[in-house]
Amino acid sequence: MSFHIVEQAQARLNRSELAVPGSNPSFLEKAAQSKADVVFLDLEDAVAPDDKEPARKNIIQALNDLDWSGKTMSIRINGLDTHYMYRDVVDILEQAPGKLDLIMIPKAGTASDVYALDMLVTQIEDATKVEKRIGFELIIETALGMMNVDELAGASPRLESLHFGVADYAASTKAKTTVIGGPNADYHVLTDPDDAGNREVHWGDMWHYPIARMVVAARAHGLRPIDGPFGDFSDPDGFRAQALRAATLGCEGKWAIHPSQVDLANECFSPTDAEVEKAQRILDAMEEAVKEGKGAVALDGRLIDIASIKQAEVMVKKAEQIKAAG
Ligand code: GLV
Ligand code: MG
Repeated sequence: MSFHIVEQAQARLNRSELAVPGSNPSFLEKAAQSKADVVFLDLEDAVAPDDKEPARKNIIQALNDLDWSGKTMSIRINGLDTHYMYRDVVDILEQAPGKLDLIMIPKAGTASDVYALDMLVTQIEDATKVEKRIGFELIIETALGMMNVDELAGASPRLESLHFGVADYAASTKAKTTVIGGPNADYHVLTDPDDAGNREVHWGDMWHYPIARMVVAARAHGLRPIDGPFGDFSDPDGFRAQALRAATLGCEGKWAIHPSQVDLANECFSPTDAEVEKAQRILDAMEEAVKEGKGAVALDGRLIDIASIKQAEVMVKKAEQIKAAG
């Protein structure tokens, strides 16, 4: 282990993160009843310029009046390059004090973006004497943000998670996409011809690099990596495929841009009973091994060692969090 200890962000369930436009009060009411681990109330791209002010008011009312218990609450503020942003932060923190857990910063580009927000939020927290300290979620969704993802991930102790915003990322890098967050048939390789001259088309995952890159930066700073939107909400199988590949790379959750995607995300990012049981058996076997002075043992015909303990502990801890959340 390195002498450098990676502090872990506050542990929260973040399997599903439901995006809800602040401009629609009935969507806000429905979101309060959803099973999402995290809900972000949106002031940014799902809200048209003329609706920004009413959306802010709706969000303040919803935070104060609806029952959000059991959920982590976030708002997605407008970009730092707009004049809406300061009012998003000032009005919501002052008029719904103590109601938010997180603020989501879109299109984060450099560590100074985070620094600026940290300063503003710190001043408001001091002035309003609210004890609860707000955490930050950053969307990595521009070429600049991805280039600076390491400095962004270490930019403030308020940071809790990094999110891959695939739609804006595609726009920023000028990638060619068909479905938001889905695959593109053009991103493929052809196998060599077999004896009959036939070749197979193997689709690749065009988002592999940015997600894996973000996961490394997030984990190296103790943050949760979260996969962003999948646009085709009438395609649950497509959603599941993208969610499972993000989970395989280390992501802890995925956005739901439609309520129907919440259960899918919760399912894809929860360990199965069999996985938890196996993890518990690994911990038991390693406890025995340590007692016998061994560093590695065989379980079910496979080698397990100290590294297996860490993975198993993560799995068992996640299962306990899910159980505690009901
Ligand atoms: C999310 O904000 C995205 O751009 O995908
Ligand atoms: Mg975006």
